Amino acid sequence: MNSPALSITNLTKTFPQRAGHDGFLGSIRGLLPSKADGFIAVKNISFEIGAGEIVGLLGPNGAGKSTTVKMLTGILHPTAGQIRIHGLDPIKDRTANARQMGVIFGQRTQLWWDLPVIDSLDMLRRIYDVPEKTYRQNLDRFRHVLELDEFLNVPVRRLSLGQRVRSDLAAALLHDPRVIYLDEPTVGVDISARQRIRDFIRTLNREAGVTIVLTTHEMADVERLCERIVVIDRGQLHYDGSLEVLRQRLGSNRELVIDLHEPNRVLDLPEGATVIRTAETRTWIEFERHRLTAPQLIAHIQSQTDVADLSVREPEIEQVIHRLYEEAQSDEPNPVH
Ligand SMILES: Nc1ncnc2c1ncn2[C@@H]1O[C@H](COP(=O)(O)OP(=O)(O)OP(=O)(O)O)[C@@H](O)[C@H]1O
Ligand SMILES: [Mg+2]
Repeated sequence: MNSPALSITNLTKTFPQRAGHDGFLGSIRGLLPSKADGFIAVKNISFEIGAGEIVGLLGPNGAGKSTTVKMLTGILHPTAGQIRIHGLDPIKDRTANARQMGVIFGQRTQLWWDLPVIDSLDMLRRIYDVPEKTYRQNLDRFRHVLELDEFLNVPVRRLSLGQRVRSDLAAALLHDPRVIYLDEPTVGVDISARQRIRDFIRTLNREAGVTIVLTTHEMADVERLCERIVVIDRGQLHYDGSLEVLRQRLGSNRELVIDLHEPNRVLDLPEGATVIRTAETRTWIEFERHRLTAPQLIAHIQSQTDVADLSVREPEIEQVIHRLYEEAQSDEPNPVH
């Protein structure tokens, strides 16, 4: 890893009481004598992120992702533990940290609701004290890459969701932050806007070397953007590593799709391989990663008939992440109250 941009050590956040709807018990909890001293949303988490890395922060609903991002940005005070971002403490060095970071919460905007986008951007330029030249350069670039021109003069409240997120991205990045936190930046955004946002994030990371923490439930975004993922579940760190290693570990079945010259040919398959579908000359075969390699399976088939074309598919990333969440749920339950 490069020198860490961000380091989190034994980070914990306890809320006096859990937010949200917990049904009847939740509604009377405040009336009952409490044995515990709060709800632990983030529990003793530690990890580092290198400068220029792009890391996916994943986990099921309520896992503690946004709570973690809020502590990194200085919005929430940690209950215990330490955070350093390029040496700064988000609480003690609040202003200096704000200058080096950008943040997007996809669920809500940081722009002024009644102002045209361009006026919001201009206000932020003053707040962050962005030099005129940097502002011009960045604005020109964002207008082009995020295609902002068609709505720069429209008040934020009249923007579509995709337009609003693109404006928010520009706003969060005007001051050239070194680290950005994107909390569900593409939630509810249509496919073409999502594609544009995703390309933009990738360029920021690859070309400008910006360190990025991305929280999302969109596995396609994770797959295209993040080599490394950090998964939390019920406030605890459950996985920290590459997506590929996770796929190897949990996505045990792969798929071979072959086109044969002979239609409806019945194949003899080795142990660990099963035909899941056929359609004329095409056959879909599922095979166990740990028992067979793709070349072994292909050789076995080629010894019986001519293969015109083939492709090997990896398991869907959704499926892999779903298994990981299930694995976390089946671990010893953690007393969180
Ligand atoms: N201000 C708060 N007061 C009390 N409890 C809170 C507060 N904010 C969050 N929580 C609780 O902490 C837990 C973690 O919430 P958080 O918003 O961090 O989850 P998340 O991983 O971002 O989930 P999602 O994927 O749904 O956005 C949840 O159980 C939530 O209800
Ligand atoms: Mg969240």
